[in-house]
Amino acid sequence: MSIPSHPLTLHPRLGASRAFLDALLDRRRPGYSLEAPFYLSDEVFQADMAYIFRRHWIFVGVAPQMPEPGDYITVDIGEDSLLIVRDDDMGLRAFHNVCRHRGSRLCQEHQGSLGHIVCPYHQWTYDLGGRLVHADHMGEAFLREQHGLHKVHLRNLEGLIFVCLADQPPEDFDEVAARMKPYLAPHRLEDCKVAAQVDIIEEGNWKLTLENNRECYHCVANHPELTVSLYEHGFGAQPGPQNADGVARFEDIVKSNHARWQSLGLPSARIEELDSRVSGFRTQRLPLDRAGQSQTLNAEVACRKLLGDFREKSLGGLSFWTQPNSWHHFMSDHVVSFSTLPLDPGRTLVRTLWCVHKDAVEGVDYSVENLTAVWNATNAQDRRLVEATQRGVASPAYQPGPYSPYTEGLVEAFSNWYVTRLRAGLQGDR
Ligand code: FES
Ligand SMILES: [Fe+2]
Repeated sequence: MSIPSHPLTLHPRLGASRAFLDALLDRRRPGYSLEAPFYLSDEVFQADMAYIFRRHWIFVGVAPQMPEPGDYITVDIGEDSLLIVRDDDMGLRAFHNVCRHRGSRLCQEHQGSLGHIVCPYHQWTYDLGGRLVHADHMGEAFLREQHGLHKVHLRNLEGLIFVCLADQPPEDFDEVAARMKPYLAPHRLEDCKVAAQVDIIEEGNWKLTLENNRECYHCVANHPELTVSLYEHGFGAQPGPQNADGVARFEDIVKSNHARWQSLGLPSARIEELDSRVSGFRTQRLPLDRAGQSQTLNAEVACRKLLGDFREKSLGGLSFWTQPNSWHHFMSDHVVSFSTLPLDPGRTLVRTLWCVHKDAVEGVDYSVENLTAVWNATNAQDRRLVEATQRGVASPAYQPGPYSPYTEGLVEAFSNWYVTRLRAGLQGDR
């Protein structure tokens, strides 16, 4: 699929910094955290936006944010503002949120509903397919059909919305989607509603947010609420001198639960492709501790009405991690999705969405407070960890430190993927 090219590929400020970026990449030491400029410098940030966020599939939201035709959300990815709308045929479309007249931002709100897309400036009017249908005072020779909104590639993966700003998006996403579909489909996210959305801004580089997400080394000491239900070993832990027994016990629990879930028609096996493909991802249905039902304060379901056709509450949590910016947990009663969107080198938006069955009634089947308690607490704790690390890596005393071979394999997979994709982007533009 190709979308007509428009002049959006490379940020002009990147021009003079290639040698600096090459040198930084050359100095990278596998098995160690990244050098400070990766988290601090404006040049790296511009390269991240150009080569990571404008070249890959970025998770931006969930279909239940737009249940009806005309419903829309806007999402900012760096300097790009995107408009994602539900069209009259119930399809989802993404456009640049930029008027084809003189460039005004079209929709200012984060979310809303509209019949047509009307520019606030001179009222050029577009339909939900992005076609320009009305423009006053433009004369006989003006061709409306040449002034439709610029489209952006969009994939709806069982209710998870990914966009790609590149002219030619990574093609391997189709394979990722095919492999993930059987895992995700039984939870029927498309039949859900958004019960809560919380945006927080972390005063840290987006890579610190992601690195923090990719390990549970820090969980026991920092996340009393999350570790009620979440086993710390579910993040690719490898048996080492101090955790061999725990990892072995966890693997036994995984094995018996997987047999049970597979018999219910729920694919559960781990797929580990975080740094072995362009559209890196990882999935596994992970058992939950104690009541074993959901990521709540007592590990019991937060919503009495279960998702899809589920009758069984103890389905663990299907975790799905994508490079470069998302992670998700699909349980029997709700889905929680996270997107990470960089704002500047030292600030990152983390958006959390909780979805429940669309027929669930607030106050009867669930309470937002109970539904969101664990991840609101966990997000606040993670934010402090990311911000403390951002302040630390800004110190002249910081030097890259070693990853734990037993607990930080997925952090290393993230770093590997990131430097590989950054280098590929830089080389491809030479
Ligand atoms: S800038 Fe949109 S109508 Fe003029
Ligand atoms: Fe955490």
